[in-house]
Amino acid sequence: MLTRVVRPNLLRVMASAKRAFSRLPSTVVPSNYAIHLHPDLEKFTFAGKETISVEVKEAVKEIKLNCLDIEISSASYRSQESASVQAKWTYNKDDELVTLSFAESLRPGPGSLSIDFTGELNDKMKGFYRSKYKSPEGEDRFAAVTQFEPTDARRAFPCWDEPAVKATFDVTLVAPKNRVALSNMDVVEEKDCDSNLKEIRFSRTPIMSTYLLAFVVGEYDYVEDKTSNGVLVRVYTPVGKKEQGRFALEVTLKSLPFYKDYFGIAYPLNKMDLIAISDFAAGAMENWGLVTYRETCLLIDPENSSSMTKQRVAIVVAHELAHQWFGNLVTMEWWTHLWLNEGFASFMEYLVVDKYFPEYRIWDQFVAQDTARALELDALRSSHAIEVPVGHPSEIDEIFDLISYSKGASVIRMLHNWIGDKAFRTGLNHYLEKFSYKNAFTEDLWNSLEWASDKPVERVMRTWTEKMGFPVLTVSEKKEGNTRILEFSQSKFSADGASSDDSYHWLIPVSLSCASKPEEVRAEFLIEEKTKSVKIENVASTDWIKVNPGQFGFYRVKYSSEMLSSLLPGIKSQTLPARDRLGLTSDLFALARAGVSGSVDYLRLVECFSNEEDFNVMSDIGNSLSTFRILLSNIDLDGAFHPFAVKVFEKLGDKLGWDAKEGEGHVDALLRSLVIGKLGYYGHQKTVEEAKERVLDHAKETRVLPADLRVPAYITSLAHGDEAMFDALLGVFRKATLQEERMRVARCLGCVRDPSLIEKTLKFSLSDEVRAQDTVFVITSCCGTKSGRELTWKFLQENFPLLHDRYEGGFLLSRLIKETCQHFASEEKAQEIEAFFKANPAPAAERNVLQACENVRLNAAWIKRDGEAIRDWLTKEK
Ligand code: BES
Ligand code: ZN
Repeated sequence: MLTRVVRPNLLRVMASAKRAFSRLPSTVVPSNYAIHLHPDLEKFTFAGKETISVEVKEAVKEIKLNCLDIEISSASYRSQESASVQAKWTYNKDDELVTLSFAESLRPGPGSLSIDFTGELNDKMKGFYRSKYKSPEGEDRFAAVTQFEPTDARRAFPCWDEPAVKATFDVTLVAPKNRVALSNMDVVEEKDCDSNLKEIRFSRTPIMSTYLLAFVVGEYDYVEDKTSNGVLVRVYTPVGKKEQGRFALEVTLKSLPFYKDYFGIAYPLNKMDLIAISDFAAGAMENWGLVTYRETCLLIDPENSSSMTKQRVAIVVAHELAHQWFGNLVTMEWWTHLWLNEGFASFMEYLVVDKYFPEYRIWDQFVAQDTARALELDALRSSHAIEVPVGHPSEIDEIFDLISYSKGASVIRMLHNWIGDKAFRTGLNHYLEKFSYKNAFTEDLWNSLEWASDKPVERVMRTWTEKMGFPVLTVSEKKEGNTRILEFSQSKFSADGASSDDSYHWLIPVSLSCASKPEEVRAEFLIEEKTKSVKIENVASTDWIKVNPGQFGFYRVKYSSEMLSSLLPGIKSQTLPARDRLGLTSDLFALARAGVSGSVDYLRLVECFSNEEDFNVMSDIGNSLSTFRILLSNIDLDGAFHPFAVKVFEKLGDKLGWDAKEGEGHVDALLRSLVIGKLGYYGHQKTVEEAKERVLDHAKETRVLPADLRVPAYITSLAHGDEAMFDALLGVFRKATLQEERMRVARCLGCVRDPSLIEKTLKFSLSDEVRAQDTVFVITSCCGTKSGRELTWKFLQENFPLLHDRYEGGFLLSRLIKETCQHFASEEKAQEIEAFFKANPAPAAERNVLQACENVRLNAAWIKRDGEAIRDWLTKEK
């Protein structure tokens, strides 16, 4: 039976948020906004007026709306029966509000609120902002574009800027005649205003949240097609580059019908535009009917785009289109439930890509990337629960992180596997139908899935979303003839290895496989208590048992040494499936890092993978080795580590060579790129020489490097190159018109080892040549070496006011802070970082600072624990 669970008391949610905050009063609520906006692309301002149809629920003398960096010039209210009354207004910048006050109380009933205002087309990539691009003639021009999620619609027009306050929107834009003007809906009327300007009126939107509204005025070309259901899809590109929109168009034409079928609900609008925006803070944004993208997440140039970029475009397009249902049609009630949007879209994107691009082996990549990174972050004390109380915008910004996205998607994948696809779909359809054009809480989804599956979905899933962290399952076995008795116990997994006395436990759907049929699930059960004993009949006494086959569960496994030893031959012979080999190394690395097992044991285990050829397994091992290398660079042991790392990749490198072979596929290209990059970075002589030669030829345009080889070749030649190489690559950057190629170079520049070239890279990151959206990635490329890290940290501190202002404290700044700080390894450094951010607060990065400092202390403890043993092993035994 589907019963309605009592909704969490909103007051409770707010009270536990960190900063005092309250939501807008519901005494007056909007139902429609008629918005008229005229951006001025020369003065970088906009003039706006809006008439908001509202319902006054209680007699009030005040109306509170969200409003930020907007100048109101008049505001009045008119009810149906009386004349219009003027309002006075006061702004509250800290709370991002404006209060309109009236001389007399407004009577309950319908009415309309009219506001005239002006604002700046800012350069912060937030609200209504300007984005710079080059015309085909090479002239600098500007477009006016929007980014409203999570809380920046209030920078474009005064509004009830909360996801649960839904309304319809009638948008009108005034734009120069020679510009394209777009919004969520199709055009109903276009007329001339004067000789230069036109006015474009768009049809009424469905009932929706403010953060999903979008406007664009600029110059674009497009390619178009219709889906099988007659939705007109256009991909807008920079002028002259429309062919680069073909691949995204193809993905859209596949995704929209897929979702219609999967969710059992058609996409409700008659058009879907995807557009590449030159300055864009995030990767993409799911505005209903007008999805905006960073150029590198949308455009594919068959000659110059890598396989990785192509895959990324497929993923991002599929992600944003999933939001058209999950997020746009049904929206989270409050940002606490952001993961309902982001976790879900991050799961659905893989379903689509897996179906249409099976050769990508995308689910294996999911385990190697999303699940692995989420487990790493969620083992920290400074992690947070998937459902997290948030109030003030700076707290909301903070949770667009790996927990909402990757842990969210991982626990959904666990659930999907546990209840099965059929029940999952039935439940989703029920949920989406029930809450269409409305808002939902996390437990609403659980209720629908519970109804559809007849499994205790809510009881199980709450343990994963309401509390941070995840369990490690400790398992040992007893053999009685062909009967195997497994003893499980669960406890919270902590990055510092501390066993917690916390009595909290998870409800864990567990499965097992056996050596006789490695691809099959042999047993499935729910662990509900701290410990559980499980008996399995008919297992040959020589068979290994693998827990969590397919790596669907969001937990780690610690085997007894006997069980682990029995699994090792399965790794060598590769009878253990790739995803399980990956799960094993990933868990063992995490256990070593936490001090539960020794680091040298892990490094020895890596040697068992000498026959390994799977991209995802190698990429996981590559990531673990990078973590070791960076750690060891703190005690100048990275040089000694390089030859060991070379050995890990050498055999595979010899086999693959530089040039693609006939009949190779997508994953082969990814593997080659990975292996060459690793060999080159770690200083494998032959690879270094070949890379340098190829890069110089590429720079001179005498021999073009295939796109898939560019990142590894650039990394290698910069890590082992001099200033001439650096300048040659800057030349490649300057000549390239494709943003992907420019960033490919710029993001590798920090691989240089000479401190003066690091300084050159840091300076370059803030120059006019690098877009604000990209600066962060250029800076963070510099912190992989000891001296690079010190210089980057110094640079961040010296330029902090500028950087803070540039990003208005947004998530790019948080990313920069975390990446710059987290690789140090001493208590003094942790304190230095804390002191700096105490004196220079960055509210939206608070949690990132905590996480970075926690990592710094973990690194210090790791070195203290295992540093000597690693040194001995690297120097004596090798
Ligand atoms: N809704 C987000 C965009 C967003 C991100 C808005 C951060 C505000 C703050 C969008 O759906 C998204 O998740 N974009 C991702 C790409 C995606 C494929 C993971 C991004 O921007 O990285
Ligand atoms: Zn998203």
